[in-house]
Amino acid sequence: MSTDVMIQASGLSKRFGAARALDKVSFEVRRGEVVGFLGPNGAGKSTTMRILTCFISPTAGLAKVNGYDVFDDPLQVRNALGYLPQRAPLYTDMTVYDYLKFVAQIRGLDESKFKGRLKKVVEVCGLAQSLGKDIGTLSHGYRQRVGLGQALIHDPPILILDEPTSDLDPNEKAELLKYIKEMGKDRTILLSTHNLAEVEEACGRAIIVSKGRVVADGALDDIRGKTGRVRYVVTIDEKRAEAGNKPPTASAVEEAFRRLPGVRSVKTLASDEKAFKVELVGAQDSDLRAEIFRAVVAQGWTLLELRRDAQSLDAVFRDLTRGDEKLDRGADWKDEAEPDDEDESEDDEDDSEDDEDDEDDEDDEDASKGAPERKA
Ligand SMILES: Nc1ncnc2c1ncn2[C@@H]1O[C@H](COP(=O)(O)OP(=O)(O)OP(=O)(O)O)[C@@H](O)[C@H]1O
Ligand SMILES: [Mg+2]
Repeated sequence: MSTDVMIQASGLSKRFGAARALDKVSFEVRRGEVVGFLGPNGAGKSTTMRILTCFISPTAGLAKVNGYDVFDDPLQVRNALGYLPQRAPLYTDMTVYDYLKFVAQIRGLDESKFKGRLKKVVEVCGLAQSLGKDIGTLSHGYRQRVGLGQALIHDPPILILDEPTSDLDPNEKAELLKYIKEMGKDRTILLSTHNLAEVEEACGRAIIVSKGRVVADGALDDIRGKTGRVRYVVTIDEKRAEAGNKPPTASAVEEAFRRLPGVRSVKTLASDEKAFKVELVGAQDSDLRAEIFRAVVAQGWTLLELRRDAQSLDAVFRDLTRGDEKLDRGADWKDEAEPDDEDESEDDEDDSEDDEDDEDDEDDEDASKGAPERKA
């Protein structure tokens, strides 16, 4: 695998009037990487993607795609890209086939190349029975498939997909994720999603944004370990002890664990047994099970349970994005409150943008009469 940087964002900031959508977002995506772009609603995912795909310009910072600056060389950038906007704009009075052919022509594909690619796109996007239908009569999910088809038709080396699976049914989701994984081997894919299971399935790496800032960027395993919240649950018999030792008291248990190097906090949990159940939080990336076991043995206590809970990506995501205003720009994973006086409300999404292109065609007749169309 080559290590070429295919997507580069350096200090990207974007303001919409007084509202700050992005605040110095920086990351790189290399060839052969499939990167999940995560973050709560309004975090700045779509804004970042629109900048990378030359649809809006940043207020500050630099973005390069395939080595070309989005501002100086937008055509070169667009040439290398397949982009699925969150609300894909489609020509509703065209048939799916005509639309894909039209996109292929714009992309400079000749007839035979188009035929070959169409076959693949139809297979991946499940469009076999929709080719002859007017796009305006398709359901949301099928429109999303067409939008995807449009992004894939020219087999681009870089794909930027804004919530590609959000309206897809489970079969189509699975098919698309399979294809993304396959494509990602020698291409570059940045995809946003709210579905963390998809990230686990298809992406080797994730970038998490929150309030316009990158709060985590790394391999999934690294991100899981980032919050410093490796958790242990230890249960110790309250009545009995080993080899003539005295049974413990609640405070002795807490004290014994508090003394252990690497233990950040100790909390007694409720237990329905005659036992002391404590929760320890270990240092980042730690595994303190052996030390905990030895501490129990040294006291002669009877260990009933010792469990280490590695963080799920889900829990880390919530942890990193829950108290958005508490987080400083990706620097600390701790819970230190850092008042952020610049935060603006971000719930007032409107479409009153001047330089936007992705107006949804509000042509909501979900009249897909399509029978199941995946070929056996
Ligand atoms: N054209 C615009 N005019 C004003 N504010 C905008 C505009 N586009 C985006 N914003 C604001 O920028 C912030 C980031 O929006 P963005 O669409 O990038 O979020 P997102 O992470 O894609 O969220 P979602 O998960 O809901 O798609 C939001 O506060 C949004 O209201
Ligand atoms: Mg979005």
